[in-house]
Order: sequence, then C-alpha cells, then structure tokens
Amino acid sequence: MKVTIVGAGYVGLVTGAVLAHKGHQATCVDNDQAKLETLKRGELPIFEPGLPELVAQGIESGALRFSGEITGPVQQSELVFICVGTPPLASGKADLSYIEQVARETARALRDYTVIVEKSTVPVRTGLKVKRTIEREANPEVIFDVASNPEFLREGSAVEDMLNPDRIVIGVDSDRAREVLEELYQPFGAPLIVTDINSAEIIKHASNSFLALKISYINSVANICELAGANVEQVARGMGLDKRIGPGSLHAGIGYGGSCFPKDVDAFYDISKELGYEFTLIKMAQQINADQRRRFIQKIERALWVVKGKQVAILGLSFKPDTDDMRDAPSLDIIGWLLENGATVRAYDPESMDKAREMLPEVEYAGDAYQAAAGADALVLVTEWAEFEQLDPHKLVETMRQPILIDGRNLFEPDAMRDAGFEYVSVGR
Ligand code: UDX
Ligand code: UDX
Repeated sequence: MKVTIVGAGYVGLVTGAVLAHKGHQATCVDNDQAKLETLKRGELPIFEPGLPELVAQGIESGALRFSGEITGPVQQSELVFICVGTPPLASGKADLSYIEQVARETARALRDYTVIVEKSTVPVRTGLKVKRTIEREANPEVIFDVASNPEFLREGSAVEDMLNPDRIVIGVDSDRAREVLEELYQPFGAPLIVTDINSAEIIKHASNSFLALKISYINSVANICELAGANVEQVARGMGLDKRIGPGSLHAGIGYGGSCFPKDVDAFYDISKELGYEFTLIKMAQQINADQRRRFIQKIERALWVVKGKQVAILGLSFKPDTDDMRDAPSLDIIGWLLENGATVRAYDPESMDKAREMLPEVEYAGDAYQAAAGADALVLVTEWAEFEQLDPHKLVETMRQPILIDGRNLFEPDAMRDAGFEYVSVGR
C-alpha cells in the first residue's frame, strides 16, 4: 500500500523504513531540510540499531522515499501517518501545534479516500480535534477517516519492537478505516486489537504511565533496601517471577528520562485533570523520579565530600543505552550539578557525544572510558552501555587519582569492584 509518514524523527523514520521493508511504498515527509539531505544521502540523523540497513534497503529498492513537501505524497497515499513531535509545553501540557499544522496541510492536499493516522503520542480526544480540523480545511467532497495507531517503540530497540510488536493497537470509528489498517498490518502477523479512537489514545498514555510508575515503585523499594541492608536486585528478581508483576521495567537506578516517559506522564496527568480527574498516582511517580535523581547526586556528594576542584569522570550520557538521544537524560542534571559545584567533568559515551557537545560545552569529551577515568577523583556510571561491563576494574583503579566508583544503574558486581580496590556505591544494594 502507498503510505505517507509526516515527521521523519525517531518514530517516523522507523515506521517508514519498516513499512517499506514489509512491502509497502512509504514516503517520509519532513520540514527539516538538513535532515532530508542527510537521509537522501543514506545517512541517519539518529543512532538506532538496525535502522541504517533498513533505510539503505528501502532507498535501494525505491520502497522508501523522502520529501520536503506534503501535497504530492498525500495525494498518492491511502494512509497518512502523523509522526511529528508532541513536546511538552512549560505547563506540562503536550504541544499539539505540530499535529494541528500537519492536519491542516494534509487536509488541503486530500483528494481520494484517505485514512489519517495519529502515531505520535497524543492526549485522548485529539483524534476528534484532528477530524474537525480536516473537516474545516478539506474540500467538502473529500471522504476521509481519522484513526489512532500509537507506537510502543523503545529507543535502542525500535526496529525490533516494530517488526515484532507485543500488540498493534488501532483506534477507528469506521469499518472502512479498520479494513485499511488491517490490510496494512497484515504482513506483520502480530496480535492486533481494534478499539475506538479515544481508547487507543488512552492505551498509549496509560501504558507509558504504568511503566513509569513501575520504575518509581522499584526505586522506592531500592531506597528502603539501602536502609534495611537488603539487595534490591534480589528483591526485583523475586518480584518479577510473579507473572502478574513481570521482570520488565523493574530495574532500580537513577530513574527514567528520555523523550517519552517524562512528557507522556505529565500530559496524561494534565488531560486527566482537564477531564475532571486528579491522577495523583502518576503525579507521585514523577515526584519519586525527580527525587531519585537528587538522591543519586547526594551519593556523589557523600562519596567525594568536597566537590570543588575535583575531577569527575562520567560514563554514559544518553538517557539509556543503544541510543544517542539526550532528551531529559539524567546525565544533564548530574553534570550540571557537578559543574555548578566547581568540579571539572570528563565524559565518554559510545554514541551521544556529538549531541552532548552542543548541550554541555564545558565538559571534556574522552576517546574511551579509560581516558575519561584517567586522574579522576570519582567515576560515575550514568548509562549502562553494554561495553562498560567489559572494563577492567584494576586498570581503572590504577589510572584514577581516587578509586571511587558510583554506579547509577547497578551495572557492576559490588564484590568484584571492591576486590579491585574501588570504594563502590550503587543503588539499593
Ligand atoms: C514523536 C513525538 O515526540 C512522540 O511523542 C511520539 O510518541 C512519536 O513522535 P519523535 O519521533 O522522537 O517522537 O519526534 P522527533 O524526533 O522530534 O521527530 C519529529 C519530526 O517531525 C522532526 O524530524 C521534525 O522535523 C518533523 N516535523 C515537525 C515536521 O516534519 N513537520 C512539523 O510540522 C513538525
Ligand atoms: C518508552 C516505552 O518503553 C515505549 O513503549 C514508548 O513507546 C516510548 O517510551 P523508551 O523511553 O525509549 O520507551 O525506553 P525505556 O526502555 O522504556 O526506558 C525509559 C526510561 O526508563 C529510561 O530512562 C530508562 O533508563 C529507564 N528505565 C527503564 C529504568 O530506570 N528502569 C527500568 O527497569 C527500565
């Protein structure tokens, strides 16, 4: 089928490349000319495992195209996916101005029956507003439907998550739209659930908020474990074996960041309040998460005693491994605090340093972990990239001025680190 994807970001690009891989004809539209030039050269503006190969394959076969204008692609497509950003406003509300803008542009281009699909994470009842916007702007003869098809892609495994999804959710209000989306996803052979549009929009916000809640829950348990002399990793293992709880998103640490959880939980809280329900539970999840970051910074302060004048090495900058995304990454707060308190910071991250340089110009960037650690008074593990597990603790101790290791993601084995000579601090153990 012919599909237009508006917004070639972390989500739109994966969506287009995977749909092309599955035999559809996908055109990714974006208003960022620089991004389009990069993509047309077959290079990617983001790091996402498996995506370069899929994009190259799509460009090679002609199944994946890029365009800076929306009218042509829309007029040739049966479906138009809206994958533009829904960043948070200062108030915490989702900024839907890009969604509205794309709905308007799409409306003016519509000619034949088309399904306009919200993939970006949007507050419930946005579908109704998209429909109204299109009715106002489109040629009155045009027949169209709006649908919701939220994405559940985790950065770092987005290609895998789209190729083998736990479920595909489609929210529709007509049989015709349902049939079009069922045909589109037929090649995926994944469980597909059909709901009304409002329910599909809530599934996304409710899922992300629940995952955020689960993380704040285990972080609270970690804080209790520290006071009780227990081990949160053992507790999480014991809990996770219960099928009703499950092991996923149950790892204690610095807490969550990224471009989704923080903004989706705020947006869900905000829309719920607007509708008339105070969703205190997820408000608490956000507060616990913010507190967890502060508590981790206190761990660094306690280990260093005096921060001023100290050399601190940071391992990992992205908000999670296997991505270069720095949006709301804990490293930004941690490094900001260290610099404010007079420390100098040297950092290493396998993928994110180019993006980090613009955000953290005062930081020195190292070529590898050992270089970052050389002469440091403390080594802080912020992002649990797999390559850090292979580091030789003895070599790190030798190269540092003081052997202090503060592990924000419980990546390392405490006994092994202490045997190597580290004063080792982690979370909940
Ligand atoms: C976005 C939303 O932020 C997220 O909430 C949702 O779950 C999925 O879509 P992401 O892909 O990370 O996530 O957004 P981003 O990386 O910011 O990409 C958005 C793209 O849309 C950018 O490339 C931007 O240039 C483009 N865009 C934005 C347009 O083409 N037109 C617009 O009017 C606005
Ligand atoms: C999340 C959702 O998982 C995905 O379904 C949705 O489409 C987008 O938002 P993402 O933010 O990319 O995906 O990554 P995820 O792996 O869920 O991690 C989110 C944050 O939680 C990261 O900062 C991560 O470090 C943190 N996290 C995750 C924990 O602190 N503990 C965990 O056990 C899992």
